[in-house]
Amino acid sequence: MAVELPAIEPKVFPPRREDEPLSALQKEILELKDKRNAIILAHNYQIEPIQRLADYLGDSLGLSYAAAEADADVILFCGVHFMAETAKIINPGKTVLLPDENAGCSLSDSCPAEKLQAYQEQHPGLYTVAYINCSAAVKARSDLICTSGNAVRMIEKIPADREILFVPDQNLGSWVARQSGRRMRLWPGSCYAHVLFTARALERIRADFPDAPVVAHPECTEAVRDLADEVCSTEKMIAFCRETAAQRIIVATETGMIHRLQRDIPEKTFIAGPTETCACNECRFMKMNTLEKVRDALRNGAPEIHMEESLRQRAAVPIERMLEWSRS
Ligand code: 13P
Ligand code: SF4
Repeated sequence: MAVELPAIEPKVFPPRREDEPLSALQKEILELKDKRNAIILAHNYQIEPIQRLADYLGDSLGLSYAAAEADADVILFCGVHFMAETAKIINPGKTVLLPDENAGCSLSDSCPAEKLQAYQEQHPGLYTVAYINCSAAVKARSDLICTSGNAVRMIEKIPADREILFVPDQNLGSWVARQSGRRMRLWPGSCYAHVLFTARALERIRADFPDAPVVAHPECTEAVRDLADEVCSTEKMIAFCRETAAQRIIVATETGMIHRLQRDIPEKTFIAGPTETCACNECRFMKMNTLEKVRDALRNGAPEIHMEESLRQRAAVPIERMLEWSRS
């Protein structure tokens, strides 16, 4: 017998009002930022008070370019560990700070470098494509990096006679395989937060808001992707939500994204995609960063990302390939 879903009040974000004035803590952060000649890069899933302070706010692809082009002594990365590590790999001469060094990623953890190495040794000759949500050690073992924003384009550039191993996200991998028509071996990893969205929970909210299209991140399961009106990276969600004629949109990704959407498209209403047990969905790692930790990181110059130079050089190769291929 099918179990009934508990009744959940939908989380609706109506058209956005004016900004509150900056708090004393936010002003202190901006002063420290100037003093240290720092730049703040923030991912779309950060809390709203951090998003407001960012010099650049975006998805993993945009953040990689922003890191590559950063003209500052210090990069304060408000995101998770693999993102700050990527910034360090492409900016060895800069100090890269992460407000909470424990801000990890379940997807990155699902592909330890030793297991990848063992698999590659058992199956030589594979072309390894790693989603950017992985450790530096996994990047160093990969031929090419991709993000959700460029994955299909990257796969299409790989010579047709090469067999592809896609790590670590099986959901993004199966979406890309379908979009590109390329067969690929998929590593069995996933994002703990995105797999909490279910087709059943989304069908139910869609019945409450029948005029609202569903936009979903490709880290969601196939059942969720199949019912979505659009599947895309967080940055591309902005364009979809702006261009659709709909005034209300259901957003199946981490809720921080809705602050970004409200800022860029203040006239529309956004409804957080629910899970089976909750009206919205937060990544506990992204939410480890707080204003206090941002202030302390700038004040103390720590926690800082460090990396062994030979690892950094090996990890830089597939990232630079991605940055170059993404431009063309
Ligand atoms: P985007 O690159 O689409 O922002 O995704 C990053 C991420 O971690 C999604 O969970
Ligand atoms: Fe990792 Fe998922 Fe959090 Fe993105 S939302 S950082 S993939 S755990």
